[in-house]
Amino acid sequence: MAFSLSSFIIVSFVLLTATPYSSASLSPHYYDHTCPRAQEIVKSVVTKAVAKEARMAASLLRLLFHDCFAQGCDASLLLDNKTGSIVSEKGSNPNRNSARGFEVIDAIKSALEEECPQTVSCADIVAVAARDSVVLTGGPNWEVPLGRRDSKTASISASNNGIPAPNNTFQTILNKWQQVGLGLVDLVSLSGSHTIGFVRCTSFRQRLYNQSGNGQPDASLDNAYANQLRTNCPKSGGDNNLFPLDYVTPRRFDNYYFKNILVSKGILNSDEVLFTKSKASADLVKKYAESNEVFFEQFAKSMIKMGNISPLTGSKGEVRKNCRRVN
Ligand code: HEM
Ligand SMILES: *[C@@H]1O[C@H](CO)[C@@H](O)[C@H](O)[C@H]1NC(C)=O
Ligand SMILES: *[C@@H]1O[C@H](CO)[C@@H](O)[C@H](O)[C@H]1NC(C)=O
Ligand SMILES: *[C@@H]1O[C@H](CO)[C@@H](O)[C@H](O)[C@H]1NC(C)=O
Repeated sequence: MAFSLSSFIIVSFVLLTATPYSSASLSPHYYDHTCPRAQEIVKSVVTKAVAKEARMAASLLRLLFHDCFAQGCDASLLLDNKTGSIVSEKGSNPNRNSARGFEVIDAIKSALEEECPQTVSCADIVAVAARDSVVLTGGPNWEVPLGRRDSKTASISASNNGIPAPNNTFQTILNKWQQVGLGLVDLVSLSGSHTIGFVRCTSFRQRLYNQSGNGQPDASLDNAYANQLRTNCPKSGGDNNLFPLDYVTPRRFDNYYFKNILVSKGILNSDEVLFTKSKASADLVKKYAESNEVFFEQFAKSMIKMGNISPLTGSKGEVRKNCRRVN
């Protein structure tokens, strides 16, 4: 009797806490007994890496997005090329010459393998490192559901097709979010990640010179800001020149990204269309521009949702020993 009552309480508790944002089998306590210091170790390596290079916080945050939008949050992004079996997602259009931070993930993995061998998955490392990066730059904190396993495959086509391009239309971008079970609120709040980090000239040049193939710049880009961008992003050459995504507070995780969009100073086309192509989306941009608190609260919820895209659990996949290759 006592046993069944307490089982009932435990089961109810799990069900209540499992909804609505965590996928049924992931739990923040997943490593409590098998690797209790796991999160502490991730945080210490991330903290050192960000102290060495501030941009690393942005790069690590982006890795979670690019992993989860190709085949789910399964660390498929981390696999290197292997003749005959793996075509690395690192070579996809969104990732090539752009995705970075893999050495930091390797350093975290090495530290964890020393502490508790073959226990903490690479997919979970990416999710925790993303959260730590947000906290370190001044953003919100949240508990990360854990227990993802690592894929034995990668998909460069899923990476090319699933991750939106900066010149995709608003509708195409929204469709790509809906394909993985996320919605408009997630799209707008998580785009707020562009409050930190950098973008290459090649990712927005089209807006400066020839937005619609008529030789004219994008009218939804502020003139003075466009002029300033053109000085270091010429018509040809300088492809890899870097610009802050949020020119006001490039290293601080805050809501300036949204404030910039309101004054036509979102640097990517995919940023500005959130304000110019849909009333519902524009209302969200305004809401987050008005309140850092409201933005932070939604951002944390949406990060958990994104982190729950199609995880491998149970006996699916594996826990890799080295994040760059299958065991
Ligand atoms: C909504 C569609 C999105 C598009 C089209 C997009 C596109 C881009 C592009 C083009 C860059 C610059 C890449 C380069 O020039 O090398 C970038 C950078 C970045 N993106 Fe996004 N992004 C989107 C959503 C997101 C989301 C959801 C997150 C995170 C949750 C994110 C996080 C970042 C970060 C942090 C950077 C800077 C990375 C660094 O400095 O290393 N982005 N994004
Ligand atoms: C992986 O190999 C292919 C050729 O098979 C190459 O095109 C691609 O650039 C390589 N990717 C990386 C990340 O080295
Ligand atoms: C978007 O950018 C890509 C890569 O620069 C380019 O090939 C493509 O034509 C652009 N698409 C549109 C609709 O402008
Ligand atoms: C703008 O792009 C269009 C179509 O891609 C091209 O035909 C045209 O020559 C370009 N114009 C300029 C001024 O670069």
